Amino acid sequence: MIPTPHIDLTDASLIAKTVLMPGDPLRAKYIADNFLTKVVQINNVRNMWGFTGYYGKKKVTVMGSGMGMPSIGIYSFELFNFYGVEKIIRIGSCGTYTKDLNLYDVILVKDAYSESSFAKTMGISSRKILGASTTLNNRILKAGESLGIPLHLARVHSSDVFYRLKHDEFKTIHETYGTDAVEMESFALFANAKALGKKAACLLTVSDSLITHEATTSQERQEAFTKMIEVALHSL
Ligand code: HPA
Repeated sequence: MIPTPHIDLTDASLIAKTVLMPGDPLRAKYIADNFLTKVVQINNVRNMWGFTGYYGKKKVTVMGSGMGMPSIGIYSFELFNFYGVEKIIRIGSCGTYTKDLNLYDVILVKDAYSESSFAKTMGISSRKILGASTTLNNRILKAGESLGIPLHLARVHSSDVFYRLKHDEFKTIHETYGTDAVEMESFALFANAKALGKKAACLLTVSDSLITHEATTSQERQEAFTKMIEVALHSL
């Protein structure tokens, strides 16, 4: 059933089988401009940029997911279910819940805990923890090794709320569920992959700390982001 309401393309062959999904659509443009060749712009519905190009011989699409589980839920569902996409690798940022992780560390998400009802509501699972694809994760780990970029395999908390009123609640979530960092999308992406028999993974750079309240500048985030893109592209 294409075109879909949020991607609006009538030719599914414009989209590669593998999609890299940053939250910020401008990051999709940055990846296309700096890492890909033979780039074709495929989407700009409501400024959700999408580009398809080549990394070496590998065809890849980069498209923004927007922020939060409902947003990545919509885009990833349409890509998987209507455009024949087989693999989605989210590349995003997170806040750390532990002193063991530093700013700019790169996390490979093993699984995501969430209090979100996304998976239950869509009818896929009432589990509160959903895993990434181990096949994709193994490839990503190998890519990290061969580029000399260390990856921290971790459980993350996919939160529905960025501005929590009770700030210190993160400590209980960290201790109870063993989550080392917080972001807002992985759980829904993994739920859709599970629902549709597809593969999903997620790489994150640590952009802020809930413990020390240190934060990165946008220039620093850009550089850290570059490492993560290289790992993701190298794993294809
Ligand atoms: N909370 C939720 N999502 C995030 C954060 C955070 O502190 N940092 C980056 N993504």
